[in-house]
Amino acid sequence: MTDPLIAAATQVRENAHATFSHFKVGAAVEDDTGRIHTGCNVENATYGLTICAERVAIFKAVSEGARKFTRVAVVADTETLTPPCGACRQILWEFCGDVEIVLANLAGKTETLRLGTLFPRAFDASFL
Ligand code: THU
Repeated sequence: MTDPLIAAATQVRENAHATFSHFKVGAAVEDDTGRIHTGCNVENATYGLTICAERVAIFKAVSEGARKFTRVAVVADTETLTPPCGACRQILWEFCGDVEIVLANLAGKTETLRLGTLFPRAFDASFL
């Protein structure tokens, strides 16, 4: 049976506004109530204002009042599974800590890892 979090990320990926890179990404985050929040990448003609799928998903979730997250899924159409970029790792750490991350592609390949592995020795509020 398909993981509903991967299914949600795969579905929202179709909404990506990837006019410039043609690289569509979907992300989904599950909160501690079981609700799934989704996001796709949204590009901009200025390039630098592009926002990744992961940050869209997290910001949408936070703006809906969610604060605790149990899992994150990232889906792209790549043979080597696409991991979150550096900026997204920082944002994910802020709201999710050492959360479980599932990477997946359209062919059904998946890999599960933890954010702490991708983003060791993070700077966060514990230093402030
Ligand atoms: N992108 C994401 O949305 N998430 C990632 O994990 C990697 C990169 C987007 C940003 C940009 O729209 C396109 O993919 C190419 O970098």
